[in-house]
Order: sequence, then C-alpha cells, then structure tokens
Amino acid sequence: GADVEVDISKVEPGQLLRVEWRSKPVWIVRRTPELLAELGKHEELLKDPASDEPQQPEFAKNQYRSLKEEYLVLVGICTHLGCSPQHLKDGAFEEQVEGVPEGFFCPCHGSKFDMAGRVFSGVPAPLNLVVPPYMYIDDNTILIG
Ligand code: FES
Repeated sequence: GADVEVDISKVEPGQLLRVEWRSKPVWIVRRTPELLAELGKHEELLKDPASDEPQQPEFAKNQYRSLKEEYLVLVGICTHLGCSPQHLKDGAFEEQVEGVPEGFFCPCHGSKFDMAGRVFSGVPAPLNLVVPPYMYIDDNTILIG
C-alpha cells in the first residue's frame, strides 16, 4: 500500500530518522525539550510562525506542527524548487541564522527552516516544509499516509 508504518522506538532524543513515503523523503525528528524551547525564541524571524497555511493537517497549525510535540514529521523537500534540505546542528545552523542552533538548510538557493519546518524570512522558499498526514498506531508506531 501507499501508507508507511514506522517504528520510532529506537529513535534517540535529538535524532533524525529518514523514511520514504510515496517516493518522497520523510523525516521524523525526536525533539529534545531544549529544541522545543528554541521554537518560541525566534518567531519574529519566520514567515509563518503560527503555521496558518491551509494545505496541511489541522494539528500542524501551531508552533510545534506535530501530533505529539516530541516527534516532528515532515516531508524533506524544499518548498522552493524541490531540493533536499540538510539537517544542520551543533552550531552549524548558527552560521545560517544567528542565535538559532539547529535547523534545515537548503543548499540550492539558501532557504532555511527551523526544527518545526517553519521557513525563515528573506529566503526563496515561500512556505513551511510540508507536514504529511499521519497518525499514531501506538506509542512506538507512526502510520504515514
Ligand atoms: Fe531549496 Fe531553492 S530549492 S532554496
């Protein structure tokens, strides 16, 4: 079928798991409390901090953009022209956005996204990274699709 079941029981705090769904890369990030706290600290730098775009699940319309705050689920495709953004951390993202320690950077034309997939202002990508439809089958299993 087109839906994908993902076992998240072995994803460590801070880790990003890559899976494929309908030929697209999907990222699952287990966000630490520190990362979640960061989301509230740079909203003035974002195009759409409250995630108001209509074309995404209702549960994504907030700063966490996820069903459970801890687990971020995103389609890993830049909303500009479809390149694959890189996950930068350990200060590498601060070279892109001062004061923000971790995020996603698209090498094609320099778009930048935070750890909720929210796009920063002043870059070519028009929209936040896409949250795919998904649900929890149980605490350790996500169904994407
Ligand atoms: Fe990502 Fe252009 S495709 S910035």
